[in-house]
Amino acid sequence: MLVSTDGAAPAIAPHINAAWASRNLTRVVLLPAAAPVGLLSLLDPSDAIADRKDLEFTYSLIDRIFRLSLGELADFSGAKYDGDFSLTLEQAQGRKHDYVAEQIGIQPGRRVLDLGSGWGALLNYIRARGGSGLGVTLSSAQATACERHGLDARLHDAREVTRETFGEFDAVASLGAFEHFCSQEEYREGRQEEIYRELFARIATVLPDGGRFYLQTMVFGPNMIPVDEVDIRAPRDSDAWHLALMQRQFPGSFLPFGQEQVVQTARPHFRLVSSSSGRLDYIETILQWRKRFAEPSFRKTLVKLELIPRWLTSADFRLAFTPGVSPNRVCFERELLDHHRLVFEKNADPASATPSSALEATLGRMGESRSAAPSSS
Ligand SMILES: C[S@@+](CC[C@H](N)C(=O)[O-])C[C@H]1O[C@@H](n2cnc3c(N)ncnc32)[C@H](O)[C@@H]1O
Repeated sequence: MLVSTDGAAPAIAPHINAAWASRNLTRVVLLPAAAPVGLLSLLDPSDAIADRKDLEFTYSLIDRIFRLSLGELADFSGAKYDGDFSLTLEQAQGRKHDYVAEQIGIQPGRRVLDLGSGWGALLNYIRARGGSGLGVTLSSAQATACERHGLDARLHDAREVTRETFGEFDAVASLGAFEHFCSQEEYREGRQEEIYRELFARIATVLPDGGRFYLQTMVFGPNMIPVDEVDIRAPRDSDAWHLALMQRQFPGSFLPFGQEQVVQTARPHFRLVSSSSGRLDYIETILQWRKRFAEPSFRKTLVKLELIPRWLTSADFRLAFTPGVSPNRVCFERELLDHHRLVFEKNADPASATPSSALEATLGRMGESRSAAPSSS
């Protein structure tokens, strides 16, 4: 068993047995080298859903590498450069926090819920602004790391949070976690939209009328290929091959088909206030993460040494660890993936909810005319 080098929670949850670890290690270790992104695992029909155990394993192992590379309390979602790539990663993450604060109102006395709170970057920001933040995560290592810094992160499924769970909030945020909320398996069962709709309905219960919800997520982009064409046997460097590599890294998660699907399933509880693409900023974020992860460190070397047996015995691991390949970056560059920062506002009366803004109407039309992306139904 791997043990944390700095006194934090064990890097691998003790309850996970060797067979399970063997099956799933790929998704974890590759992250630093090939996909330091929120979670993309796309399209492998044989794989299980992103359940508690998947996420526990993933984030508890990368816990060590993440903190050694990026520092405590760092963000693990796309930063906001607004195209100014002279900014440092930290400045761009700070700019993102300021943007979220401006959009949903983070200020003294405000209570904010962070769904999928990671290592507590936003919770820390909320505290510094005089607000009160509560996060949920499925990683005990993340919850422990937050606790160590005096932040309130609970080990709880974000999909299950209602007003009864933690009470009411003035605002809600979720960055880089929506990608986990529906699995590929659930997509194939035709449940994707139902899952998103239920999630929005639950979030609505914790907010007052007019309350804001900031959602930052990856989506399949305009050039996404049909799901069934994704195949690791496809020619190297093809779209299908890159997408298949990604599925090896993070099985168990799936993405919405464009922001339209997110916006539509948010009704009747939320109207879209604004939307902006973070795709190019995410590419830069990935570049910066890769640099940080590659920086030499004795502790990181120890972690990597512990992974050698896996590399020798797992073909999947070697595949996903293809040197020099960053499939998520390629997928963003080719617009197989996109990334959005969506600001929602809770409707006062669900029954009267219609596409109320020109922006939503436009998105609706885009959704109807989009033919390249496969449909979930
Ligand atoms: C890529 S990290 C993003 C973390 C953080 N929001 C940030 O921006 O740094 C994804 C987070 O979502 C959490 N997560 C994924 N699915 C979840 C679920 N169903 N319930 C609670 N947390 C979940 C993971 O545990 C992890 O903390």
